[in-house]
Amino acid sequence: MSRARVLSADPRAVAEAADILRGGGLVAFPTETVYGLGADATSDAAVAALYAAKRRPPHNPSIVHVAGRAFLEPLASLDAKAERLAARFWPGPLTLVLPRRPDAPISALATAGLATVAVRVPAHPLALALLEAVRLPIVAPSANRSGRVSPTTAEDVAAELADAIDLILDAGPCPIGVESTVVDLSEPDRPVLLRPGGVPRAALEEYLGPLAEPIRDEARPRSPGRFASHYAPSLPVRLDALEVEPDEALLAFGTCVPRGAFVTFNLSPSGDVTEAARRLYALLRAADRSGARRIAVVPIPAEGLGEAIRDRLRRAAAPRPRAADAE
Ligand code: TXA
Ligand code: MG
Repeated sequence: MSRARVLSADPRAVAEAADILRGGGLVAFPTETVYGLGADATSDAAVAALYAAKRRPPHNPSIVHVAGRAFLEPLASLDAKAERLAARFWPGPLTLVLPRRPDAPISALATAGLATVAVRVPAHPLALALLEAVRLPIVAPSANRSGRVSPTTAEDVAAELADAIDLILDAGPCPIGVESTVVDLSEPDRPVLLRPGGVPRAALEEYLGPLAEPIRDEARPRSPGRFASHYAPSLPVRLDALEVEPDEALLAFGTCVPRGAFVTFNLSPSGDVTEAARRLYALLRAADRSGARRIAVVPIPAEGLGEAIRDRLRRAAAPRPRAADAE
């Protein structure tokens, strides 16, 4: 495959992207969270090509994106709780794991053979325009190689995947910057927060009551976004740093800026976790490229999008798998 073209997002580019997706090709597109890499969810061949491009392990299921609630009828059953969440948070950065209809026209590769399917209606106008044009469910994991930092600009997608995909739609940086919140509703009495993300826990708990934590050895699908090492830059990452070494790139926050780093990036000089989320992945990449030997990050408050930031940083800092067990 030749190098992917990058088109700035206008109606012609959207129409072309929809044609490519209908033909089984791979298109990266912006969502309000991060850039996704899209493929026709109904096609085994398209989904297999997507997993190959990302080098994503086949046991990691993907999120199916649709243009609106109505498109889910053939795919999944929504109970009253799911309907309420859908009405409140879609379009938006919330993914629901729901019982999959047995005859759902979705490749079993997209759902890793599970009896559930993860679905979301994204809020980005370009993502919605593309989904409306293509009129197919589109599987779209983040547009990075498996295990790496998610892209929040078209340039970041190109740096990782240009040689492996057909087209990149460019609409500038993603407004939220961390992935969607994933809630498992497949056991109606026990909603589980599988991944903190763009919808803060407190907003969901207003609707659902307290969210359960995933049980480690539960006989439920593993959600590999929760694997220890994930969202990882190349350099080692050290958390909760209150002092910094001269060979470290520092990610600071607010007025917490220990002195003496090789280079310092402030996630949010004003101490705003929403701004920090938006800048997190771009600054992790900048720190990675800076020439430092390690990345040190100051403590980030847990409220609002802070929970998602802390989750991603914890995974970025986790021990890396040996190449042989790398996912
Ligand atoms: O914000 C987002 O969600 C982005 C944009 C592109 O929409 N997408 C994204 O997809 O982050 P991905 O594939 O990188 O993450 C999907 C997460 C993974 O943690 C996966 O394990 C989990 O959702 N997941 C998908 N299907 C599941 C299922 N049936 N059961 C449990 N977890 C599931
Ligand atoms: Mg991902």
